[in-house]
Amino acid sequence: MEEIVVGIDVGTTKVCTLVGRVEDVNSIRILGVGIEPSDGIRKGVIVDLAAATQAITHSVERAEQTSGLEIESALVSLAGAHVSSVNSRGATAIPGGVIDAVDMAHALDQARAIAIPHDREIVHVIQRGFNVDGQDGIRTPVGMHGYRLEVETHIITAAAATVDNLRQCIGSAGVEIQGFVLNPLASAEVVLTEQERQMGVAVCDIGGGTTDLAIYVDGNVWHTMVLAVGGNHITQDIAHGLRLPVTQAEEVKKQQGHAVRSEIGAEEYFSIRPFGEDHSVQINRQDLAHIIEARTSEIFALIMQEIKRSGYDGLLPAGMVLTGGTSALPGIQRVASEVLNMHVHTAQPENLKGLVDRLNSPAYATSVGLLHWALTMREHELAPSRRGKRPRSKGENNVNLDKAKDWIKRLLP
Ligand SMILES: Nc1ncnc2c1ncn2[C@@H]1O[C@H](COP(=O)(O)OP(=O)(O)OP(=O)(O)O)[C@@H](O)[C@H]1O
Ligand SMILES: [Mg+2]
Repeated sequence: MEEIVVGIDVGTTKVCTLVGRVEDVNSIRILGVGIEPSDGIRKGVIVDLAAATQAITHSVERAEQTSGLEIESALVSLAGAHVSSVNSRGATAIPGGVIDAVDMAHALDQARAIAIPHDREIVHVIQRGFNVDGQDGIRTPVGMHGYRLEVETHIITAAAATVDNLRQCIGSAGVEIQGFVLNPLASAEVVLTEQERQMGVAVCDIGGGTTDLAIYVDGNVWHTMVLAVGGNHITQDIAHGLRLPVTQAEEVKKQQGHAVRSEIGAEEYFSIRPFGEDHSVQINRQDLAHIIEARTSEIFALIMQEIKRSGYDGLLPAGMVLTGGTSALPGIQRVASEVLNMHVHTAQPENLKGLVDRLNSPAYATSVGLLHWALTMREHELAPSRRGKRPRSKGENNVNLDKAKDWIKRLLP
């Protein structure tokens, strides 16, 4: 049976629905694309239910038209400054002396049984490694002998009301939510290589309203963070600094913008005609770059602060991989590597098959990443618990051993 995967990336500037067909273990053909300008979304969070629902509905309809398929359910991207993460350890005794899937599930339940305020919910429980009788670095414990199993997890939580608003909009658009995926985790699926993850790397997706960060060490995610800054701030600075309407400032940024002032000649000018005026004005490109450089440096200073706070400063030999729409800004790599003092390169979805015309751009890393997430994680369903739901007890676990093995292999390569 052919398998169809669907992702809806609800971004601050665009909503992008993708329909893909799984062709083999590692490849997806894009069958349907629906890209619509966002409305009712600010800094990654829904601020107007009706407007956001409409944008999502249009995006879904367009993806249905292009693919000729009806979309019933989808993975949905999640972002916003309300997201936070914590590392947690769970442990269990192994009554049978040999670890089975039930022991694994029990250890994970222990890890996720952290105290969460009633207004937050768990979005992801990502397992990073196991420890059997004090022996660290176990990748696939099922079948091993031991007395005590410990699991190390990364737990991502979000403001429940904010997630509920997104649920409502997606539901009103007629789509059932298969699961939420934090933006940087989706982007990482397409822009990071396995080698980078093993070495230690940060992925940073700078979109319109958010900057999403994830840090990978030893092949697994160790830290995630969403900052409420992005390309829209640069546009607003340009609008203020050059006294232009926001739409024109956005155009100017994309066509003339550069993040490094010293790379622009002092005599470089371009002309624009401000709306409502009948004569055009000359603008110095260095002045424009100056405005962009200031904001861009500030964004990376915030990211640096976050990396330091995470404790992984100096532990990222593979540096940082930049993606998201704003990473298309010329010079941004240089600003990033100067502020962060590490190797930085930009990346975007590559080697896509099917309807890919517009998707070969860093702005679509999260959108394409959702499909890859569906592909690689589809068997590990760690059902996110809703607010107030207690961790499942051992008896309630209904884990298929083969599936569990497969899932561990995928998560811990
Ligand atoms: N060539 C370019 N130069 C500079 N900025 C650009 C360029 N192309 C796109 N951008 C900026 O990228 C941003 C949109 O990026 P993206 O599509 O990744 O955001 P989003 O996913 O909708 O938002 P978010 O993830 O923040 O919620 C806008 O601020 C836009 O101005
Ligand atoms: Mg985005």
